[in-house]
Amino acid sequence: MATIISGKEVSAKVREEVRKECEQLAEMGITPGLAVIIVGDDPASRVYVNNKKKACEEVGFISEEYALPAETTQEELLALISKLNSKPDIDGILCQLPLPAHLDEKAVINAISPTKDVDAFHPSNVGKIMIGDYDFLPCTPAGVMELIHSAGIEVSGKNCVVIGRSNIVGKPMAMLLLHENGTVTICHSRTKNLKEICASADILVAAVGKPKFVKADMVKEGAVVLDVGINRDKNGKLCGDVDFEEVAPKASFITPVPGGVGPMTIAMLMKNTLKAAKLQNQL
Ligand code: GUN
Repeated sequence: MATIISGKEVSAKVREEVRKECEQLAEMGITPGLAVIIVGDDPASRVYVNNKKKACEEVGFISEEYALPAETTQEELLALISKLNSKPDIDGILCQLPLPAHLDEKAVINAISPTKDVDAFHPSNVGKIMIGDYDFLPCTPAGVMELIHSAGIEVSGKNCVVIGRSNIVGKPMAMLLLHENGTVTICHSRTKNLKEICASADILVAAVGKPKFVKADMVKEGAVVLDVGINRDKNGKLCGDVDFEEVAPKASFITPVPGGVGPMTIAMLMKNTLKAAKLQNQL
């Protein structure tokens, strides 16, 4: 039976470290500030934004919420971002995705100043990650790496398989594993022999967005399994991309859903915001 890696515990540790550093910054008269933009009333986005605001308060950051109506125009959204880019008490800007269909997500990401881009979605930050010379790491993949480190798992030389190729998770995840000398394969919807490739993984990261997609026959005995998914099963119960009941007995380490990767994303956002505040203040 696998050891469960608790994102709840690890994220609490990360947030506590951030809180302590925030206290030290306060002595210098610096309070990190995060602006969170939400457009429309997607219920899942609302929950995420509320959790991000709560985490800010707990570590001692200022958080400003900009809740815009679903009909907001591209011009209005870009004008807000431009204002926040030059607002001195705001160190980090996050625009919750997905945006309503009439808005151009790419243009919005491009408009956020790279120095305040705590999601690390801006092309300049993505490029920096590619060459291993970055200020910000994207929160979810960085959270997965933190979980791997917390469990004392060595990545170097391991076969790492990432299922999913999104810009937010799959692609940067592969890059971070590569930076630590993993031998990395990215699988996606057109991958042939998916089962065999996954079953060759020493470290398997599931970021597909399909409930209980990863079954026991896709997992090698003793593999480390990290589940990025947040889905609802047939009964409406929260579940990951991994069939936990089937896979846990085969894995050496596994992350649960909820309480695994999810809380890490927010903890890493706090870390990025702290970093952004230090950068703005030349620290
Ligand atoms: N939507 C889902 N995940 C994320 C995230 O990490 N950042 C933002 N901005 N939107 C998201």
